[in-house]
Amino acid sequence: MKKLISIKNLTAGMFLDADVVVEESGGEEPGRFLEPRNAVRTGSGEKRARLTGKMHERIEKNGGLMVSSDALVDRLRETGLSMVTIDTDKGGDLPDGVKPLTDPTRKPPPPGRLVHYDEELERATEIRDATTDTLKEAMADVASGKGVDAEKINAASAVITESVLRNVDAMVSLTRIKKHDPYTAMHCMNVCTLVIAVAQADGVDPGYLPIITTATLLHDVGKTRVPLEILNKPGRFEPSELEEMRKHALYSGQIMREEGGFNDEQVAIAEQHHEMLNGKGYPYGLKGDEIHPYARMTAVADVYDALTAKRVYKPAMPMYQALMVLHKNRGTEFDEHFVELFVKALGVYPVGSVVELNNKEIAVVYEPNPENSRKPTLGILTMATGKQRAAPFICNLAKRSEAEGREIAKVLDPEKVGVDVDQTMEQIKTKGERTERTRR
Ligand SMILES: [Fe+2]
Repeated sequence: MKKLISIKNLTAGMFLDADVVVEESGGEEPGRFLEPRNAVRTGSGEKRARLTGKMHERIEKNGGLMVSSDALVDRLRETGLSMVTIDTDKGGDLPDGVKPLTDPTRKPPPPGRLVHYDEELERATEIRDATTDTLKEAMADVASGKGVDAEKINAASAVITESVLRNVDAMVSLTRIKKHDPYTAMHCMNVCTLVIAVAQADGVDPGYLPIITTATLLHDVGKTRVPLEILNKPGRFEPSELEEMRKHALYSGQIMREEGGFNDEQVAIAEQHHEMLNGKGYPYGLKGDEIHPYARMTAVADVYDALTAKRVYKPAMPMYQALMVLHKNRGTEFDEHFVELFVKALGVYPVGSVVELNNKEIAVVYEPNPENSRKPTLGILTMATGKQRAAPFICNLAKRSEAEGREIAKVLDPEKVGVDVDQTMEQIKTKGERTERTRR
């Protein structure tokens, strides 16, 4: 049986499902490198495991490679691979209690996803919580005059990137969760996730993704140099306060330069995240292509996350409405190409959207459908009469037998219809039923 596993769990005695890449080295002997099937690389794309002629012969004959020694395991880990496929019919299996990344008995996940959404969701939740804590610590360190631990942030970036590469929808769906903290660590985490999802959809080399991840995680680190009374002011800013607040983008760049360990591109992404396509942004008033492409992308994610967050001075804007704001300002304030990719990455109805169906039932979007974003899985909360259901009915709109003609008719504002989305999502998870009560 073929299993996708984390490279951390690869041990000698396992059989690696592998192809071979033959590269001309310029000399008489071609250089041979291993390229395992379904492997995902998040490290430097330059490093690869070089094969001997004998290993190459064995791979050609057996369609893969027996991982014969711990030294080979080490070499494979050094290549920057993060996930590989093993064949347990031809070699060793995972030890008891260690799960593969995806259940091999289920039908394969949708295109572009290595594992199923529900299989990644729990891992993504843990990664998100841990990274937000790391980020909070890093920001508190900067605020108190200590430096940023670049190594720690880079390690967190690699873990986030791996999750996004396994199943982008899991991490993206969690960006609807927004809690406010003094230095907005969770906002940075959300922006980072959204940018990396778009970068992936844009076909960016996976080896480059952690660079973007680190830069976006730290894009607001400069807020640690803005006085807290301005940062947390509930009302409107006085002109001088606004000027100080706007300096945070410059400060972010400054901090990253001072710390070292970050390259020019990363500094530019952080520094330029409030620039606008039409030159009306800050701090430099750069226009169009003068702005780093991923700063343009960060601007889209930054505004979306800010609009959909609740603050003391403003209610949360429903997700669909925020998407409309971006769409309306594409080409003027925001990069058109990135806005389109952004809407695609989130889906027309992002997870957590409250919707009314064509039969008047009210539901919450529970799981995305990457193959058709108009037909996600819902948790239906009410009957057509408006009466609350005893338990939410989990209904996959892409399955005709479950949908029974149901379609999403419109999006509702959760506050206006009195739905607490976080609580409802939890209720669907714990009490949701996959068979409709009226049919039992
Ligand atoms: Fe900012």
